[in-house]
Amino acid sequence: MRILVLGGPNLDRLGTREPETYGTQTLADIVDLLRTTAGSGVEIDARQSNFEGQLVEWLHDAADARTPVILNPAALTHYSIALRDAVSIVTETGTPVIEVHLSNPHAREPFRHTSVISAVATGVIAGLGAGSYLAALEGIRALSEPNRH
Ligand code: DQA
Repeated sequence: MRILVLGGPNLDRLGTREPETYGTQTLADIVDLLRTTAGSGVEIDARQSNFEGQLVEWLHDAADARTPVILNPAALTHYSIALRDAVSIVTETGTPVIEVHLSNPHAREPFRHTSVISAVATGVIAGLGAGSYLAALEGIRALSEPNRH
């Protein structure tokens, strides 16, 4: 199984960006952890972009290939209808998209309390740091093999 792990704007700065909020792990560290946890049967295809349109195109690819997605939309979470519509294009094919956040946006500034993505995502996991990504991996596995547990 292949899983696409998409990261939005500024996540390439993890490690040094607001460590009190996001921790000191880099995005590469989180991807390494995901790969180690996923094991050899799962290919983790990790990509990050600071550009909305690039993320939209990667989501179109996921829809066409029916590739499950772990998506941290970063700031686009709060206002990008284009990204929301692209997530919907994936999920309407029956392919899961799990929205993840390192922090818990609901415990932060009011403008972070709204996600335009969540209503069309398959699930949402927030506030667990890198653990949000690991929980999303587990969720995708559970969805693809409902009798695993
Ligand atoms: C974030 C939360 C967003 O509000 C913020 O803009 C980010 C990161 C998170 O992972 O906690 O860039 O998505």
